Formats: sequence, C-alpha cells, structure tokens
Amino acid sequence: MTNYAWMYRVGFTPWERYARTAAASVAPLLDREERERSGRLGRALDLGCGRGLYTAELARRGWQTVGIDYVPAAVEAARRHGVNGARFLVGDVTDLPVAELGTFDFFLDIGCFQGFNVTQRQAVGRGVSAVAEPGATLLILAFGPTRLQSLLGGVSPGEVAAAFPDWELLSTEAAATAGLGWPMSRTSPRWYRLRRRGPLSE
Ligand SMILES: C[S@@+](CC[C@H](N)C(=O)[O-])C[C@H]1O[C@@H](n2cnc3c(N)ncnc32)[C@H](O)[C@@H]1O
Repeated sequence: MTNYAWMYRVGFTPWERYARTAAASVAPLLDREERERSGRLGRALDLGCGRGLYTAELARRGWQTVGIDYVPAAVEAARRHGVNGARFLVGDVTDLPVAELGTFDFFLDIGCFQGFNVTQRQAVGRGVSAVAEPGATLLILAFGPTRLQSLLGGVSPGEVAAAFPDWELLSTEAAATAGLGWPMSRTSPRWYRLRRRGPLSE
C-alpha cells in the first residue's frame, strides 16, 4: 500500500508534476462538467485531494468545493494555499463523514480510487452515493491494472462500474501520460465519467 504520508513528508509527489503537465488536458473535462450545468455550478467534492491542486482549481472555476484527504500534512498545506470557495477536511474517503459533508453535484478523484481493494472501492461507492445529488457526476482518473498493480494501484473499467452500482458509466477515455514518468506512464490511465441515477431512472 502506498505510504502517502511518507511521500508528502519527503517531497516525492509525482502526481503534482503530472497535474502541471496535464492541466491542458484536464481543463476540457472540467469545462464539460460546467457546460452541462446551467447557472450555478453547485458543490464539488475532491476525493483524495492531496495538497488541493484540483480543489483550488474547481473553486477558481466557481464550484463550492470541499477537498478531503487522510494525510493531515497534505490537508494543512492545502489550507495554507487555500482559495475562496475551497474547504479542506482530514478524512478517509472509504469512510466518508456523510452526516457532516452535505450533498454534492460533482465529484473528482484523481489518483486516489485506483489504490483501493474491492472492499474499499465498494465503501467509496456507498459513501459517494450517500452524499450525491440525483444527476451528480463523478470524474475519476485511474491507472489500469498492470503487473505493477501492487505497487502502483490500478483498476479496470468493470471494477469502476462495480463500485458504483447506482451510477451510469457515461464514458471512459484514455488519459494523457506526459508528465507521469516511468513506470506510471505504462499503466494506461483512463478517465471515467459516471452519473448518479435519479429517482426516475432507479
Ligand atoms: C496520487 S495522490 C493524488 C492527490 C491529488 N488528487 C492530486 O492529484 O494532486 C492520491 C491521494 O489520495 C490520498 N488518499 C489515499 N487513500 C486515501 C483515503 N483512504 N482517504 C483519503 N485520502 C486518501 C493520498 O493521501 C493522496 O493525497
């Protein structure tokens, strides 16, 4: 299991280099979320937000954003660099504090879900579903399964869909690998977009 607390402590955070390199390819995906909503964007939850790079970006775009991560030092750093409209919590995404979170219209998971086993993935699915508005969308960036899965994590499209039985898998597309570095660049990362089914379609 990846020791994220140690990685933040020693400053080895390759996903942050990726965030800078991939910004131009992530922006259209966030634009799509916004285009599909008329008027107010609503609330967004950044799952495994780390030091809040994407939480801050979502807030800058007009989402009322909450970032959650279980490494306190990462959350403290996110708070220090905070922007208006972004709030950060220390918490475990496999055990979301449903009662205190409220509900969300959009969820983003960049590099967190891919590290979980089946039990944890189901727990994330239950928690996210419990705080999702009908019609909410979820965007996940995850490595694919490889021989290095025990080191890097990775999930298949079927495993993503299985964790979110109350959600429709709208699309899956290959993600940019520039800036990932080896061996992460060999994991065939994909973007998954899902929509929470509303009461009428359940
Ligand atoms: C690859 S990093 C990505 C961080 C951030 N999304 C980004 O792109 O900058 C994965 C993040 O997930 C967090 N994480 C892993 N397991 C978690 C859990 N069970 N609950 C909350 N955060 C978790 C780690 O601490 C780490 O910050």
